[in-house]
Amino acid sequence: MSPTPMTTTLPGMPASYAWEATDEEIAARYGVAREEIVRFDLNTLPLTPAYVGELLAAGRFETPLAEYPPGDYGRLVAAAAEAYGVTPAEIVPGAGADEVLDLCARAFLPPGGRAVVAAPSYAMYRVITEQRPARLLTVPRLGPGQGWAFDLPALLTAAREADLVWLCNPNNPTGQVEPAGAIETLLEGLAADVPPGRLPPAVVLDEAYAEFVGSSLLGLRERYPRLVVVRTASKAYGLAGLRVGFGLGTVETVARLAVYRPPGSISTISATVVAEGLRRAELMRTNVAAIVTERGRLAAGLEAAGWSVGPSVTNFLAVDFGSPERAGRVAQALLGRGLVPRTFGAGHPFAGHLRLTVRTPADDDRLIAAATEITAQEE
Ligand SMILES: Cc1ncc(COP(=O)(O)O)c(C=O)c1O
Repeated sequence: MSPTPMTTTLPGMPASYAWEATDEEIAARYGVAREEIVRFDLNTLPLTPAYVGELLAAGRFETPLAEYPPGDYGRLVAAAAEAYGVTPAEIVPGAGADEVLDLCARAFLPPGGRAVVAAPSYAMYRVITEQRPARLLTVPRLGPGQGWAFDLPALLTAAREADLVWLCNPNNPTGQVEPAGAIETLLEGLAADVPPGRLPPAVVLDEAYAEFVGSSLLGLRERYPRLVVVRTASKAYGLAGLRVGFGLGTVETVARLAVYRPPGSISTISATVVAEGLRRAELMRTNVAAIVTERGRLAAGLEAAGWSVGPSVTNFLAVDFGSPERAGRVAQALLGRGLVPRTFGAGHPFAGHLRLTVRTPADDDRLIAAATEITAQEE
């Protein structure tokens, strides 16, 4: 059984996102104390940065909480522009990267249209596409031997008459990046081969994990004006609970996204704290460096326990158990110990894998100890 409780499906309606089970639900279902539960399934940072508590205690927000947030989120956008090296007019803010992905679909994917994704990738691309409603064509990624890279010729063929291409780099759940130059080649190929009477597809490049590799393809926006790069405060900045993300592109592209931006979807508290977080690039880089070190230690510990850990440039690891059945058994054994992995449903190209987020050294030690026990019990 997956730790995810349910996907809501109503007759004639697209499936909704399968919400993760809460700590309370997992505690009740597996008979573990709530305090024992560690979320290895959500790809967040293990600790909230200390300045957040200080800011909240000071209670000084950009505007009084009795008022609505500033309509343009001017200070938040200015801080993001500085952090990402663009002008404010090249940024649209949203309630998490997820809301920005939704804005992209509203702006570029008409109902009845077609989107393309290289699978496996982030689950929300399917949900958002089907909610338009539009059709999602999935192009299988090359295998682990080729770093789960996208299949360029197949993707170009599938995207030829598409309205939108979802790209994720570094990719969730594989944890790897596309080979150097691959995305540039894809964009050039898309621009060069446009059927008469059509525009090249919009390309949404989700860089939620960009800070873990320290580079971005944002610079390609002038060469490929239908590119939207998506960033977030949820991952390297450690602020997932605040729900702030950004869409970046040319001024014209961002203006098109902004048409669909709902008023006030980012709270004043979130806007104030994230603006401060974006100004603390040094702290973010320190946190990323600590995660990268800990990732190496966790991967080595799990390998020593007999698990097959794929290479990762992100804050999570993909572990290959060879079959969905074995991955399912291991997931149950972990859940019984309060350790929550990300599982992938039957038929998913990653069904034989578990995805595990790097946490604190103490929590990761619990995972390594569990892996060692589980391997011993399997033998
Ligand atoms: C690739 C990718 N994009 C977007 C998101 C969602 O980010 P946010 O919390 O900013 O909505 C996630 C979260 O796991 C993700 O993995």
